[in-house]
Amino acid sequence: MRRDSQPLTEDRLRMAEIVPAAAGPTFASDVRRGLSAEPKVLLPRYFYDALGSRLFEAICELPEYYLTRAEAEILERHAAEMAAALNSPVRLVELGSGDGRKTRLLIEALVARQGHLLYLPIDVSSSALEQGAERLLHVFPELTVTAFVADYQAGLRALRNEPAAPGYRTLTLFLGSTIGNLDPAERVALLREIRGVLRTGDALLLGVDLRKGASVLLPAYDDALGVTAAFNLNLLVRINRELGGAFDLAAFRHRARWNGELGRIEMHLESRREQTVPIRDLGLEVRFAAGETIHTESSYKLEAAQVAEMAAEGGFSLRKTWTDRGGRFAANLLIGS
Ligand SMILES: C[S@@+](CC[C@H](N)C(=O)[O-])C[C@H]1O[C@@H](n2cnc3c(N)ncnc32)[C@H](O)[C@@H]1O
Repeated sequence: MRRDSQPLTEDRLRMAEIVPAAAGPTFASDVRRGLSAEPKVLLPRYFYDALGSRLFEAICELPEYYLTRAEAEILERHAAEMAAALNSPVRLVELGSGDGRKTRLLIEALVARQGHLLYLPIDVSSSALEQGAERLLHVFPELTVTAFVADYQAGLRALRNEPAAPGYRTLTLFLGSTIGNLDPAERVALLREIRGVLRTGDALLLGVDLRKGASVLLPAYDDALGVTAAFNLNLLVRINRELGGAFDLAAFRHRARWNGELGRIEMHLESRREQTVPIRDLGLEVRFAAGETIHTESSYKLEAAQVAEMAAEGGFSLRKTWTDRGGRFAANLLIGS
């Protein structure tokens, strides 16, 4: 996008690993709980080990996965307007930043406007955070990064100790329709937590995938090349590696379903046969019937009207919505009210 050879970047990067509360859930406790439940479930945050993060980046390149291209198109066209929206210098916070590829567009607009920028990404994937930060720091010598390896809640708590400099507002990004992985009540709870670390007049730019036909949605979560299938199955690889699981990948298949009643795509891992899988470190034997599934992700697709409602419940007002030319995706500027 811009210059590519810059001085060393280490002095502009701070990475803080936020240790979760001792009594809080861990991968092990969440796997135990989820695979002992009826129906079986695993949380999507566990997709993102180093390989899962790389597989997600590959998904973003797939012809069927229109979300990334649609959101990038919006940012390409409107980043300058977004950067000027708060009419004040800002620091940039991002939840679930991944490798921050699309964020470059906003960073570029903010740097052009205010000359320097503090960027504070929060993500559970240390590999994506580190690689993303290194890339951004090489491109933008005006950038300083404080990255938090943390889940949203722990990252937001850590932000409370990092107040914005006097005269600066906070612009928070939550892109990629990642909010769609949360159920309605969880979405509002997270918006309130975000609102809790912002001041009145600060902003949240929220990327939302809009409701559309299953013929477009389903291939986006079940591509012909099988990358999304690998992304989903990698959860079992991770359980095998980190918890001594004995999942045979050939005995499970990736499934994507449109749940019209709830307005969401669901990803599942379906057992191809009746089987029992031991997970050594948990002392657990997990029984599967033939055709039984583990629900691994929901991706809610929202109507435009739901965004304003969700914003209000979360303590924000919706100031502006930009959509891509195809009307598939919406970037929404929410202002803390
Ligand atoms: C769907 S990807 C989106 C990445 C990027 N924002 C984009 O738009 O392409 C979701 C990102 O959120 C991170 N993530 C998922 N659940 C999380 C959680 N509970 N706390 C913090 N980060 C999380 C993942 O590691 C991943 O980088």
